Amino acid sequence: MARTMVILGGQWGDEGKGKIVDLLTEKAQVVVRFQGGHNAGHTLVIDGKRHVLHLIPSGILHEGVTCVLGQGVVISPQALMDEIDLLNQKGISALEKLKVSSAAVLVLPYHVALDKAREQAQGDKAVGTTCRGIGPAYEDKVARRALRVVDLLTPSLFEQKLEKNLEFHNFMLTQYYKVAPVSKEPILEEAERARKYLSNVITDVPALLATSYAQNQNIIFEGAQGALLDVDHGTYPYVTSSNTTAGGVATGSGFGPRYLQEIIGVTKAYCTRVGGGPFPTELKDNIGKHLAEVGKEVGATTGRPRRCGWFDAVAMRRSAQLNSMTWLAITKLDVLDGLKEIKICTGYRTPEKMWDNLPVDCEQLALCEPIYEIWPGWQSSTQGIRTWGDLPKAARNYLERLAQLVGTPIGMVSTGADRRDTIMLTSFE
Ligand code: IMP
Repeated sequence: MARTMVILGGQWGDEGKGKIVDLLTEKAQVVVRFQGGHNAGHTLVIDGKRHVLHLIPSGILHEGVTCVLGQGVVISPQALMDEIDLLNQKGISALEKLKVSSAAVLVLPYHVALDKAREQAQGDKAVGTTCRGIGPAYEDKVARRALRVVDLLTPSLFEQKLEKNLEFHNFMLTQYYKVAPVSKEPILEEAERARKYLSNVITDVPALLATSYAQNQNIIFEGAQGALLDVDHGTYPYVTSSNTTAGGVATGSGFGPRYLQEIIGVTKAYCTRVGGGPFPTELKDNIGKHLAEVGKEVGATTGRPRRCGWFDAVAMRRSAQLNSMTWLAITKLDVLDGLKEIKICTGYRTPEKMWDNLPVDCEQLALCEPIYEIWPGWQSSTQGIRTWGDLPKAARNYLERLAQLVGTPIGMVSTGADRRDTIMLTSFE
């Protein structure tokens, strides 16, 4: 029988999903993105070489794997073409393996202009978006005025729809935000290039996935960002504009939820966040700096420094529930090597009460003080360890406690950037 797996971020993104997807793709024939756009940044290190992907699924580096962008993804034609070119330069012919949903919404230059103008206008209340136009593109989708991939195939219709969109968005840009309008010609040129580039890969994705499943092909659904950035379940309004949680797989790909078998929650052994929004376990001290330095915590897409903090078991437990996680893949354990003590957040305190669940209201979350459990660190290197028994006892105790608090077993531990630096606790046959 076909095996289906969802791999998603359990925290605020950047958990190291790219490596896990890449690793598990060895057993898959199809890898599907179902939400987000080129706001994502997945870093893969293979044989010492670093690859950063934004839009194309991490499975692209494997032979014989079909990589799919579902209709829940928002696609910048320019970003997609740039990424295909970059992969070509590395000797990977992405177009041979890629399938793009005809129903996916396009991210166009006016979305980027709106994203930037809005962030600027918000001042210190800014979300801290990646300024890639992701939010405005999703807004156009739900407002039912978006241009979609299929529109690229009919240039006259594309131009008509574009004109209507530009009339509306340029009014916002010039009259409300008082910034420059976006012109039509460069977008038409981009669309023309994209039509030539992509016409052979535009696909009916739900039909493709149904056929693949019927043919016993293993399918991986690759999440972008993390559960706590989900537009419905995250720390709203400091979230991205898509459903990053497992529920988004079915809507964003057209693959029925009844056929999803395993949901893998990727989480760092500590916590990071990029952009604004509450982060109860954030460390603004030397330990925070140490985690940032050792963990090389810089955004793969924007190059922004990531905020770092202790593992938040309250937030991760919510995430495990939201996603019905089967097991956890814990990454970057080695970043904690050498710390004298390691803290785990097991609850929150506000002046009025104690919390053992993540508050739904982000204003409340901003008031929460973490309650910590303190665990002894380990004074040896876990870098590159590949078996559970070789981990220091203190590291095993720490991981076991995380799993217990989150209520989900550990299936995999990553101890370094390379594909092989991984402890497998689950079999993937
Ligand atoms: P947007 O997705 O660009 O609209 O940004 C909304 C929020 O999601 C911001 O806090 C971003 O920093 C965050 N975000 C978006 N993509 C990623 C990602 O791939 N990793 C981590 N955070 C992200």
